[in-house]
Amino acid sequence: MFERKTYILRRAQLKRMLGAGVVLLLGNDESPMNYPANLYPFWQDSSFLYYIGLNQPGLAAIIDVDNDRVVLFGDELTIDDVVWTGPQPTLVEQARGVGITETAPQSALADVVATERQRGRTVHFLPPYRGNQRLKLEALFGIRAGWVDQYVSLPLIDAVVAQREIKTDEEVAEIEQAIALSHAMHTGAMQAAKPGMLEQEVVGAVTGIMRTGGGHFSFPMIFSIHGETLHNHHYDNRMAAGDLIVHDSGTTSPNHYASDITRTIPVGGRFTAQQRPLYDLVLEAQLQAIAAMKPGVRYKDVHLLACRVLASGLKDAGLMRGDVDEAVAAGAHALFMPHGLGHMMGMDVHDMEGLGEDRVGYDASVKRSDQFGTAYLRLAKALQPGFVVTVEPGLYFIPLLIDQWKAEGIHADFINYDALDDYRDFGGIRIEDDVLVTADGYRVLGPPIPKTADEVEAVMAG
Ligand code: GLY
Ligand code: MN
Repeated sequence: MFERKTYILRRAQLKRMLGAGVVLLLGNDESPMNYPANLYPFWQDSSFLYYIGLNQPGLAAIIDVDNDRVVLFGDELTIDDVVWTGPQPTLVEQARGVGITETAPQSALADVVATERQRGRTVHFLPPYRGNQRLKLEALFGIRAGWVDQYVSLPLIDAVVAQREIKTDEEVAEIEQAIALSHAMHTGAMQAAKPGMLEQEVVGAVTGIMRTGGGHFSFPMIFSIHGETLHNHHYDNRMAAGDLIVHDSGTTSPNHYASDITRTIPVGGRFTAQQRPLYDLVLEAQLQAIAAMKPGVRYKDVHLLACRVLASGLKDAGLMRGDVDEAVAAGAHALFMPHGLGHMMGMDVHDMEGLGEDRVGYDASVKRSDQFGTAYLRLAKALQPGFVVTVEPGLYFIPLLIDQWKAEGIHADFINYDALDDYRDFGGIRIEDDVLVTADGYRVLGPPIPKTADEVEAVMAG
């Protein structure tokens, strides 16, 4: 938990932005795995944690904007509970720790919501992303669970996004703490990965480093010799010298801020003559993209810059042809990089996407493209000081996609399909760092994690 004043200030800012009404924040509940008492690890709702600071199930809060009141709803543990959980601070004590003086049992929430609505006041709530949140909203508002999305508060979403997207120094320090642990996870993986091992052996080593450092995965780890599958969550391949591994993982800081870092490593410790130029090309795209970041620059333009660097290098390698600008404008590069350059990062690894990807990453000045590849860009709007975003270009050789495009003659003017035959088993490359937008530019966060081909090879050589 941060100091009490952090949460008081955050709520005060939210009240100023909204101006009127009542805000309902639902904390998350436990989530059963296969029977009620067997639970997935608890994960708090990030907006609840941001404004209320309490990381436990069974809580909700009301922020009454007009009357400057905050009420925390939850139930005190019974002695039967304590037998299983051990002694815990009381609800009142916990509330005090985050600057809240009023508490009430969970059962009182429905009456409060109903009374405020009878008085004609707007009760704002955020979009649900779990089934039981929908059911709670159904019970509280009398809106059918499947329809609640139509009643979420756009002013509240916009206020929360405007606040959470600008990271304070104490939030940036948390993210950097998570990245410091990612440093150990990535260098540990580089040292552990050897030909003949199963991927899962390295995943086990990385998990151990992370848990020893007090972290949790901020999303399911990716560690695969089939990096051409963008989110590959299987770890049962045996690694052979010459394979490329995409290792994309992230962890959490004590106050639940995320890291999200990708490195690509050659099994056997040396990039092959085919791999190294393309690795250098992805790195060049990443470095040029990062160097272009500053307030006012649209992230969509940074994305397109990275795509042009990649297309230009692919042309030099004989895999693409024609005019680079035209190829990128047409979307031909997306055969090799069918995803966006990056996303916001904070308490959520894809920060605030639960509030709606377009309401976070887009605004009136930039609409989402419907072109394959660029359509998956999660952040397109102009950068502001305080944004933390990932910069994660990649190059992938996806046999099914290549076959389909080739058979349909898609972008045949720009793609040298015959030359791709030698790359069908290449896999993929992705390089990702987490970057803060500063007043006049950018800062790559955290301790530098080995990134050039030489640096990666040096760590792998031990
Ligand atoms: N690191 C996983 C993702 O950004 O989707
Ligand atoms: Mn990412």
